[in-house]
Amino acid sequence: MTDPNTDTLTVLGLETSCDETAAAVVRRHADGRVEVLSSVVGSQIAAHAPFGGVVPEIAARAHVESIDAIAEAALAEAGLGYGDLTGVAATAGPGLVGGVMVGLSFGKAVALARGLPLVAVNHLEGHAVSARLGAEIAYPFLLLLVSGGHCQLLSVEGVGACRRLGSTLDDAAGEAFDKIAKAMGLPYPGGPALETLAEGGDATAFTLPRMLLGRKDCDFSFSGLKTAAARMAEGVTGEQDRRNLAACVQAAIATQLAEKSDRAMAAYALEMEDQGLRFVVAGGVAANRAVRAKLEATAAARNFSFAAPPLAYCTDNAAMIALAGAERLALGISDGLDAVARPRWPLDQAAALASPSHKAGRKGVKA
Ligand code: KG4
Ligand code: ZN
Repeated sequence: MTDPNTDTLTVLGLETSCDETAAAVVRRHADGRVEVLSSVVGSQIAAHAPFGGVVPEIAARAHVESIDAIAEAALAEAGLGYGDLTGVAATAGPGLVGGVMVGLSFGKAVALARGLPLVAVNHLEGHAVSARLGAEIAYPFLLLLVSGGHCQLLSVEGVGACRRLGSTLDDAAGEAFDKIAKAMGLPYPGGPALETLAEGGDATAFTLPRMLLGRKDCDFSFSGLKTAAARMAEGVTGEQDRRNLAACVQAAIATQLAEKSDRAMAAYALEMEDQGLRFVVAGGVAANRAVRAKLEATAAARNFSFAAPPLAYCTDNAAMIALAGAERLALGISDGLDAVARPRWPLDQAAALASPSHKAGRKGVKA
């Protein structure tokens, strides 16, 4: 029997909440040191590209078809077998529930067959720990989580202890990148394509609206920018103009992320009495170089240390899920085989219920 407090944990992570089928093996040593033994990501981009976005039914089927082979590949890359594992961690939400059920069920099967503890991981908690895959970052820290589905500022106090400081009122930053890119005729996924187009563009060539300027909170809004940019895109045809528009969109998104992060840093520093000021950015949009650079400069000006995950762990991957699971196992926390797949699962449930960023639907509050 493993003692999670003193032993090394070797965890298989499984991620199937959107359009990547991923498995990874992560080792967490008793002193907290982290080693990624393997990380395999099977992208479904080709399957969804003709539709310009993720089709949930296609995603779920693709996860079913590949999850076993991807898990095998992750074990092979790590040079291990199922018998070498000490735990299994699977994303249990939030996300496209058909896909989440595939990874979670597979994880339950492995846990049951091998007598291993299971951790039903919140995908957002995975992103929250992802920077710890590349560097030692102590708790607590201020987190900007920017992905295709989420855009939030959170005070991360420890494992599973997050307080929401701000959230988007409409689109997530990645969603804004994707939708504007689509309006500009760029291929899915739009964020990376727009970043490439922006190279050599003049970020001052167009004036885009600056959102929520009068508000003193840490909330975000990208819908006005999205509409304005999409309308501009219709009249922009020359190659250089397209580069310029892409550069302006990227700069506008980076500026808003930096301005709201700056405001959150100011409030956080007061609360922390200037002790241990750490700023972390995570999620797919953290892969964007302009966004990273702007946030790094903002953090430096506020005397915060800055960290972002290695590029491979910004977008969805299973190493971050394995690490989130290992951190829970190290605290003696695991879940039963009756753990449910949750399409919505806010990190700060209390804040999400008290002040939902989106109208709560049948599936519950989003963020
Ligand atoms: O974290 P992620 O893989 O999935 C979610 O949990 O949502 O994030 C995907 C999002 C997409 O919107 C994608 O366009 C965006 O991250 N993204 C980027 C870049 N790479 C990925 N956005 C801007 N620049 C990038 N280089
Ligand atoms: Zn994600």
